[in-house]
Amino acid sequence: QILILDFGSQYTQLIARRVRELNVYCEIHPYNNIPELTDDVKGVILSGSPCSVRQDDAPDVDLTLFKNKVPLLGVCYGAQLMAQKGGGKVLPSKIREYGRAKLAKLDQHNELMKEIAIDSVVWMSHSDTIAELPENFKVIASTPSVEVAAFKVEGEETYGIQFHPEVTHSAQGKELLRNFVVHIAGCAQDWTPDIFVESTVEELKAKLGNDKVVMGLSGGVDSSVAATLIHQAIGKNLYCIFVDNGLLRKNEFEDVLDSYKHMGLNVKGVDAKQKFYDALKDITDPEAKRKAIGRVFIEVFDDESHKIDGVKWLGQGTIYPDVIESVSVKGPSATIKSHHNVGGLPDFMKLKVVEPLNTLFKDEVRLVGKTLEIDDTILGRHPFPGPGLGIRILGDITAEKVRILQEVDHLFINGLKKAGLYDDVWQAGAILLPINSVGVMGDERTYEQVVSLRAVTSVDGMTADWCHLPYEFLADISNDIINGVKGVNRVVYDISSKPPATIEWE
Ligand code: XMP
Repeated sequence: QILILDFGSQYTQLIARRVRELNVYCEIHPYNNIPELTDDVKGVILSGSPCSVRQDDAPDVDLTLFKNKVPLLGVCYGAQLMAQKGGGKVLPSKIREYGRAKLAKLDQHNELMKEIAIDSVVWMSHSDTIAELPENFKVIASTPSVEVAAFKVEGEETYGIQFHPEVTHSAQGKELLRNFVVHIAGCAQDWTPDIFVESTVEELKAKLGNDKVVMGLSGGVDSSVAATLIHQAIGKNLYCIFVDNGLLRKNEFEDVLDSYKHMGLNVKGVDAKQKFYDALKDITDPEAKRKAIGRVFIEVFDDESHKIDGVKWLGQGTIYPDVIESVSVKGPSATIKSHHNVGGLPDFMKLKVVEPLNTLFKDEVRLVGKTLEIDDTILGRHPFPGPGLGIRILGDITAEKVRILQEVDHLFINGLKKAGLYDDVWQAGAILLPINSVGVMGDERTYEQVVSLRAVTSVDGMTADWCHLPYEFLADISNDIINGVKGVNRVVYDISSKPPATIEWE
């Protein structure tokens, strides 16, 4: 594997993604908490950083831990750190060095630069520059404005690059990373979803033995894939719980429960609708609703897990981005910390935690799901928030409002599927607005509710654009909703991007 040391760059995760795309396993660790170098680490990459090596408190690392043991690649800050520690000079850049640049000189005999084109486009993003290299460092690539775009330390497998090969704007970035990871570090490209499944099931068997595991399922991709892996390892000792909080999509509880049963999972469906509605009665504040939903979920789940005799583990669908977030250079987030506050936690949270997906990115979870032959209807699902329709009904929540929104949402989502648009959309849903408007149906005046449709494109939900759905499609759906859902006489379409809006309305 490749070890990636994180100095806090916004691109560190991208380095990991690119290495994984080469079918090579890698892990990110913060520069100030480095794991022991084991034999399976074949190379180390030092990431970029928002800091400057010229700062007094600049993040630092002892390079002798790796030098002459495994090949080293410094990216941006990582490269500058290597140069400075070797006795070179790093100074503020005289000209701005952000964005596209073209390589101008290149040592094509150098292993790192093999098959990289002389005029290849690279992505620069730095305010410091390496002004002087130590004696035994050799320039292996330059751009018109950056003499030291890449270097190699003579007699060592140590390399530095000023640009960012991990961003897609660096045209041959992937080739360059392949040169390092495969040709220089000698990693075998054998990390595939099949291998992951095989080795994870073996590890789970060894770890869990005859222990019982309880797990909450949501119908989403992560928890379904995690449960399937654990199930392959321990079979009926995995007890799954799927809670109907009364805020799911139409028929979702029955449909998802059905697919889980088909998959052979030992899953118990718990109808707790009324408990949630009672707890939500008259609450209108979005955060208060979220808290109430979260609290009742914990109560229900705690109750159910007590019914399983001698359960030792809690299974979770945590994925790698959540883990990186909690160990990042910027420090664990507040919510993660509260997990360690065991005293006040419900009993199930005191269980040991097993998280078989905590080394995978979202797209890798889908690939693993495919290998496990999980149904496309589960793997291709749009994300759906934990509080469900509860945060799409503005104002207070009642069973009747849920019913109306379920009907609207059902027509919209099914319409997207029928029109072949579902997979082009990252997330879609409907919002029930807390206002009535006047309409006319036949000869009758109506005064009924307004719904908004929302469909967005996105990569990770952090930013999103509203979907430019065809007018004809919107016209048909609007008709279907107003004619088909009693209580709704007006449909609007949300054309806000995130930022400044968010995907959900609450
Ligand atoms: P926003 O509205 O913040 O949503 O743009 C971004 C993504 O997160 C989902 N979301 C939630 N998921 N609990 C969840 O599990 C929540 O409280 C929650 N709020 C928003 C939202 O559906 C979108 O995919």
